[in-house]
Amino acid sequence: MLRVAVLISGSGSNLRALLEAQAAYSDSYRVVGVLSDKDASGLEHAREFDVPTTIVAPADYTDRASWGDGLVEAIEAYQPDLVVGAGFMRIIPPNAVAALFPRLINTHPSLLPNFPGAHAVRDALAAGATETGVTVHIIDEGVDTGPIIEQRSLAVLPGEPEADLHERIKTIERELLASVVDGIAVGRISLDDIAAARRGTNPEGTDA
Ligand code: GRF
Repeated sequence: MLRVAVLISGSGSNLRALLEAQAAYSDSYRVVGVLSDKDASGLEHAREFDVPTTIVAPADYTDRASWGDGLVEAIEAYQPDLVVGAGFMRIIPPNAVAALFPRLINTHPSLLPNFPGAHAVRDALAAGATETGVTVHIIDEGVDTGPIIEQRSLAVLPGEPEADLHERIKTIERELLASVVDGIAVGRISLDDIAAARRGTNPEGTDA
């Protein structure tokens, strides 16, 4: 059973999907702890499933590096095999990325490398994209630049408001994320292999 820690900042619907899918995936993985950078409403899902929570607020630290150390310490307290960013709206400091690579993954609401950053759905609409989707990727030192694990696409509807499009993306995002976590748990997906493949195409790249 793969021990999973989840990082959230918001409503936590992806977290909830992971919690609900555990049984459907025959308990191949288990969410053992949920961490947030603030008192996010999504922590309620963890409490409902009796999963412990930790808040690691940047304001409680003197600088980003010490927040990164605090984050890693709080994560490692749950002894996770995998750490999942599920709507964690902070850039994770390089020292924390280095400590956790490649077992730190993230879900992002666009087809990366298109539309990285905090406003991916808005940016896709502004660019007139006719197709967008969701990407689950390993986190590296960049912003949404890490090795891609899996993607799903969907068509943008003409005149579709940002909130509606994001909700449709989140519907497939929740399924994809749980499927990827199960895939890692059962050995269908190897984060080490995906990270190594990236190194092969980018010899200058750093990974830890
Ligand atoms: C997701 O679309 C995630 O990819 C993005 O923010 C959203 C979080 O949704 N970064 P939720 O908090 O899981 O409902």
